[in-house]
Amino acid sequence: MAAHKVICWDCGAEVTDPFVNTCPKCGGLLTVKMDLEKVKEMKPTDLHKTQIGVWRYAPFMPVDPAHKVSIQEGGTPLYPVKALGETIGCKNAFVKFEGLNPTGSFKDRGMTIGVSHANELGAKVVGCASTGNTSAALAAYAAKAGMKCAVFLPSGKVAMGKLAQALFFGAKVLSIDGNFDDALALARKMADERKLYLLNSINPYRPEGQKSVLFEIMDQLAYDVPDRIILPVGNAANIWAVYKACMELKEVGWIDKVPMLTGIQAAGSAPVARAFEAKNKTFEPEPNPETVATAIRIGNPVSGRKALAAMYNTGGYCTTVTDEEIIAAQQLLGRKEGVCVEPASAASVAGLKKLIEIGVADKDERVVCICTGNGLKDPDTIINNCAPPIKCGNSVADVERILSE
Ligand code: F0G
Repeated sequence: MAAHKVICWDCGAEVTDPFVNTCPKCGGLLTVKMDLEKVKEMKPTDLHKTQIGVWRYAPFMPVDPAHKVSIQEGGTPLYPVKALGETIGCKNAFVKFEGLNPTGSFKDRGMTIGVSHANELGAKVVGCASTGNTSAALAAYAAKAGMKCAVFLPSGKVAMGKLAQALFFGAKVLSIDGNFDDALALARKMADERKLYLLNSINPYRPEGQKSVLFEIMDQLAYDVPDRIILPVGNAANIWAVYKACMELKEVGWIDKVPMLTGIQAAGSAPVARAFEAKNKTFEPEPNPETVATAIRIGNPVSGRKALAAMYNTGGYCTTVTDEEIIAAQQLLGRKEGVCVEPASAASVAGLKKLIEIGVADKDERVVCICTGNGLKDPDTIINNCAPPIKCGNSVADVERILSE
C-alpha cells in the first residue's frame, strides 16, 4: 500500500476519523493525498508483469492488498472505433468499454478499493444510494466480503438489470420515495449515525479505484497521451478520479501532458454543464432532474465542484446532449461497432459528435470516449427504441420473403 492521508479538498485539513465523509472543520469534500515518492523511482514497465485490472496499479492505491476484496475488475478493452468515427467525423476515436467489468460497469473499479478499505476497517455493514450501478457493484463486493449491504434506490427509476443484480447478490434493497439525491441524503444520515459504512463516491477511497481506468488507457496507448477524454457526468466523481490519475501520472513523470477532460450531461439533468457554461466554480442543484439515461439522473452531484475543477484545469469542456442524441449514439455504437452500452454511457459518444459539430473538438483529435456501463443493464430502453421482432411463418419461403424486403 502506498502511504497516503485523507485531507479536505476545500481547506486542506487532515482528516483522521475514517467514518466521516465530509471535513469536520469546514464541511468540505474529502480526498486522498497519495505519497508517490517511491513510485517516482519506478517506470510503467515496473508494474506487475502479468496482472491486469485495478490491482495492477497497487502502487497508486491507498489500500493494503492484504485486505483485498476483488472479483477481477478492470482490464476492459479499448476499441479503436473507425466506422463510428467516420460517421461522426472523428478520425482517431476510441471507446473504453467499461461494460465488461464483473458487474457490468466502471463502479467495480471503485468498489474493489472501497470495499477492501471497509474490510481493512473491519466494517460489518456497508451501504450506498444509487441510480443502479453503484448498488449492483456494492451488492456483489459485499457478498464477496461477507458483509451486510443496504442499497437506497429511487423508487421506479432504476433500470431492470441493475435492480435484478442488487436483489440477486442479496443486498437489502430499499426503494426510496424520491430521486437519487433524496436517497443519498438518507444513506448519508445512516452513515453519520454510524449505522453503516457509506460507499458512495463521497467516500474518498472509491474514486481512488476509479483512477485505474485512466492508468489502463495510458497502458493501452503506450503512454501516448490522447488529446481528449470524454465521460458522462452524473454524481461527478468519475471525471474527478480520471483527473486525479492524470495528475498523479504527471507527478511521477510517466506523462508530460494531460488530456482535455470533457464531461457530458443529459440535457434534463445538467447542473454541472450549466455552471461550466457560466464559467462558475460552483453549481446550482437541479430540483427535478429527468432523462432516459437514468444512471445520470442526478440534480445535486456530490462531486460537482471537483468535476468543474477537473475540466477547467485541463482545458476541457462540459456540455449537454438530449435524450434523442443519447439514443442515437447508443444505436450507432451497436450498429457500427457491435458494442452495447447503456444510455448514460452513450452520452460520451453523443457528446463527441456534438463537440465536432459545434467546433469545440477537432476531427483530427485523438479522443477516448469512456462508455461506463453495459447495455444489458437497461434492456427496456433498448427494446423501446428498436423495431419489434418480425412475425414469421414456419417455412423457408416465409423467411426468404422477409429477408428480401
Ligand atoms: N455512467 C454510468 C453507467 C453510471 O452508472 C454513472 C453513475 C455515471 C456514468 C456517472 O458517473 O456519477 O461518477 O459522474 N452512476 C451512479 C450510480 C450515480 O449510483 O450508479 P459519476
